[in-house]
Amino acid sequence: MKLLVVGSGGREHALAWTLAQSPRVQKVFVAPGNGGTATEPGLENVPLAAIPTLVAFAKRENVYLTVVGPEAPLAAGIVDQFRAAGLRVFGPTRAAAQLESSKDFAKRFMVRHSIPTARHATFTSASEARAYVEREGAPIVVKADGLAAGKGVVVAATVEEARAAIDSMLLGQRLGEAGARVVIEECLVGEEASFIVLCDGAHALPLATSQDHKRLLDGDLGPNTGGMGAYSPAPVITPEIHARVMREVIQPTLQGMAKDGIPYSGFLYAGLMIDANGNAKTLEFNCRLGDPETQPILVRLKSDLLGVLDHALAGTLDRAATEWDRRTSIGVVLAAHGYPEEPRKGDPIAGLPAANPDCRVFHAGTRIEAGRLVTHGGRVLCVTALGDSLRVARSRAYEAIAQIRFDGMQYRKDIGHRGLKRH
Ligand code: AMP
Ligand code: GLY
Repeated sequence: MKLLVVGSGGREHALAWTLAQSPRVQKVFVAPGNGGTATEPGLENVPLAAIPTLVAFAKRENVYLTVVGPEAPLAAGIVDQFRAAGLRVFGPTRAAAQLESSKDFAKRFMVRHSIPTARHATFTSASEARAYVEREGAPIVVKADGLAAGKGVVVAATVEEARAAIDSMLLGQRLGEAGARVVIEECLVGEEASFIVLCDGAHALPLATSQDHKRLLDGDLGPNTGGMGAYSPAPVITPEIHARVMREVIQPTLQGMAKDGIPYSGFLYAGLMIDANGNAKTLEFNCRLGDPETQPILVRLKSDLLGVLDHALAGTLDRAATEWDRRTSIGVVLAAHGYPEEPRKGDPIAGLPAANPDCRVFHAGTRIEAGRLVTHGGRVLCVTALGDSLRVARSRAYEAIAQIRFDGMQYRKDIGHRGLKRH
C-alpha cells in the first residue's frame, strides 16, 4: 500500500522512514519532502503543498493513509478536508488543532478542565497588559496567541522586557494576526520534557519520552529556536511522574475535548515543566509530533507504526501497544549559517556518513540542486544515534558530525547535558 506524509522537515523524514519499514508498505510519498526524502529508499517526493492538490493526489494514487507532520496545515483544516473527501488521515481537525493554534483557547481549556498549567490572563489592549505586568512583576512570560513558528514566546526577566514584548506584539504588530492577542503567564521553574501521545478521540497511547534543547547555544544560552537537539527517554520523567502526567494531563485533555464536542485524534504533544517535587504543569500543547524529538523517539520504536496508526483510526488505541528499544537515543541538529534569524540557503553539504543501525542522519532544510546536496532551511540535518547509555549515543552522534561539513554549520556540543547530570 501507499502512504503520504505531509511536510518537509526532519520530523517528516523520520516519520516517512519509519513508515517505510512496515512490511505492508510499498511506498511513502512525502509532500513536499527534502533532499533526504528525495533519495531515501522507499520514499518519493511529491512537489505539492496546497491542501486541495494533496486531496486530489491522495485520491488519484489510492493512498491508504495520510499522516500530517506540521501544525500549519492542521490549523488550516487539512484533516477536515481529507475526511470530507472520504480519505483516511491521521491528525486533529482544525477545531481540535486550536489546542496549539490558539494559546488563549488552550489556556481556557486547561482552566475549564482543571489541567495544571501556569496562571494566566489574556489581553488585546496593550495598556491593560502593561498594567497586569506591573501588578504581577517579573519574571513573567508573554506569548502571542497564534502560531508564530517558535518566535511567539518571550520569557521576560524584567518588567521592562515584558513591556517591550507587549508593545511589539500588540502595538508594533511584529507577529501580525498571531500577536494581536497575548497571553501573559506566570514564569514556571523546573525541568522541561516533551510528552507525546497518540490519540484516537477517546484513548491515548504514549510514545517514549524525550527532552528538547530550545536555545541556540551551549549552556541553554542565546535565542529560542525550533529545537537544537533532543534525546529519549527523558530521565526526568520517572515512572511515577509518567503515571501522574497520564492521569492529570493527558486523560483530562482527551476527556475534556470529547466533552466540549471536539474529540481529539492525532499526535498530542504536551510540553511540560516538572518542578522539584515532581509536579508537572503544561507549558503548551502542540497538535503534532515534536521536531527534533521525533527523530530520536522513532529510532527507538520497535513496533510497526502503521499498525498503531490503524488502531488510532479505528478508535482502538486501548488495544494497541508499543515496544521500544531499551537503549538511549539522541538527535543533534546541524543548523545553517544565520539560524534562527536569517538562515542562509545554498551551502553545499559534504561528508554525510552512510546510515548504519546505530546512527542515521535525517534531513530537514536540504535540497538537491543540480545533483548536489545543499542547505535549504534553518535546521539542515539531525544526526541521530543510539547507544547503551546517553554517553555512548552522544559520542556516536558527535563522531558522525565530525565528518559532516557545510559553510556556516552551527550545532550545540552539549545535547543531553541534563540527562548526563542525572546519571
Ligand atoms: P512554548 O512555545 O509555549 O512552549 O514556549 C517556548 C518556551 O518558552 C518553552 O519551551 C519554555 O522554555 C518557555 N516557557 C513557556 N512558557 C513558560 C512559563 N510559563 N514559564 C517558564 N518558561 C516558559
Ligand atoms: N521541538 C519543539 C517543537 O517541536 O515544538
